[in-house]
Amino acid sequence: ILKFAVLIILAYLLGAFPSGVIVGQIFFKKDIRQFGSGNIGTTNTFRVLGRTAGIVVLALDILKGTVAASLPVWCQLGLPHYFILVFGLAAILGHSFSIFIKFSGGKAVATSAGVLLAYNPQFFVIAVSTFVLIMLISSMVSMASMLGMILITIFSFYYHDIFLTLTAVLLTIFIFYRHRANIKRIRQGTENLVPFGWYYHQ
Ligand code: G3P
Repeated sequence: ILKFAVLIILAYLLGAFPSGVIVGQIFFKKDIRQFGSGNIGTTNTFRVLGRTAGIVVLALDILKGTVAASLPVWCQLGLPHYFILVFGLAAILGHSFSIFIKFSGGKAVATSAGVLLAYNPQFFVIAVSTFVLIMLISSMVSMASMLGMILITIFSFYYHDIFLTLTAVLLTIFIFYRHRANIKRIRQGTENLVPFGWYYHQ
């Protein structure tokens, strides 16, 4: 039980690593929380700091989800497979309520993807494909994140895995909640667009 507690805290701390803020401050002397949407995630890093920084933050945010979720397996805790999702949720909470930046944080999308990669790589590929497809149609990362979550929750039924579906439902609710400002902008027609995709060219 002690080992479990230590590792779940470690999962939270891994998730809490604010990649976007760190990359911005170290390499650009810029706090991305002051620019663009103010979010610390991949999308705003691309927007504010450019492609290379965006790719690095995306990789780090996915990786921390994958590593944190894999802890119970790597440390041979002998727990059922679904504990990958439990540790993953700890990392996602860390990402969105990070102890290193006054319990603020990101919108949980990339880190959730990393958790899915650890739990079920095939489902990860389906989720990412769904996300990319919606992004290419809507030209909005926020739309891809939210609508994508609804669709992959439906797709999760295919696996007959109650833990996967339950996690997908929880993440859908949480990701919608974290996108409150985006929902408002979408309704007002002022949401930030990515400079590609079908909707951008309308
Ligand atoms: O993953 C975050 C994305 O869905 C939206 O980011 O910066 O446009 O609010 P942003």
